[in-house]
Amino acid sequence: MTGFNDQVIEEFRQNKGKLGGMFEGWELILLTTIGAKSGKRRTNPLGYLEIDGKMVVVASSMGSPRHPGWYHNIRHSERVTIETGTETYEAIAAVPPAPERDALFAKVVAAEPGFAEYQAKTTRVLPVVTVHRIDDRVRGMGDFLVEVHDWLRGELKTLRAGVGEIVAGRADSLTMENSLHAHCVSFCEALTKHHTGEDMGAFPMLAQRFPSLAPALAKLGEDHVVVATLQRQIRELVEGYVHGESDPRRLRDDFETLAGKLEAHFAYEEETVVAALNVTAPAPQFG
Ligand SMILES: [Fe+2]
Ligand SMILES: [Fe+2]
Repeated sequence: MTGFNDQVIEEFRQNKGKLGGMFEGWELILLTTIGAKSGKRRTNPLGYLEIDGKMVVVASSMGSPRHPGWYHNIRHSERVTIETGTETYEAIAAVPPAPERDALFAKVVAAEPGFAEYQAKTTRVLPVVTVHRIDDRVRGMGDFLVEVHDWLRGELKTLRAGVGEIVAGRADSLTMENSLHAHCVSFCEALTKHHTGEDMGAFPMLAQRFPSLAPALAKLGEDHVVVATLQRQIRELVEGYVHGESDPRRLRDDFETLAGKLEAHFAYEEETVVAALNVTAPAPQFG
């Protein structure tokens, strides 16, 4: 079968995506996934459909009892490469939740009734996968997340600079302390809101569609708890701060710890979920 696969791939590339024989009349792509076990790139010729403006592939294996290897691979890593014969691009593969899968499959069958026959041959529910091109020109939800992080980074930097001034005894400490208090409260509220939004909205949505992201999402959720504890600690220090009595160096040390944890968290989040988030929704528009 591997020899056959290689032959089809070669013919596909040579003929700009057009194939004869058993593939005559099919809209085909080459899907390259990363092997779940091997970590190596695996390429499969695959029929696809375009439904509601989305590229859709079905893990049918022509109704055989087991899921095709590429489906296991995308559950392990959502990053894929698509070749259409005339162009090659990077994409993200998503596994829609059951109700959405069922609605898509009904449309697949309406367009290509052969898939109903494949489904009838097996007890497994044929998985439906949507493929989303990574397009850097479109500002997506992931890009918005990075913008929020950058804003929070800037706020934290200002706060730390303020604490530094107080520790150094520069400027008017009392005025600085008062503004630090107000600024600290608004920063903490913004950060809490951001993390709550992720915990309640973005992360469960990503977990549903991208099984490969489960370990990263679990770690990110744990980070939120650690950051919330640190934040509470800082808020208590700021709220209980008495001018001329409290030691600002404790405040400074706690801010340093929070900044370190938060930067590591933002960086990991940006590395793991931004691309997937970008293909799931456009960035919100304000004003
Ligand atoms: Fe987060
Ligand atoms: Fe975040």
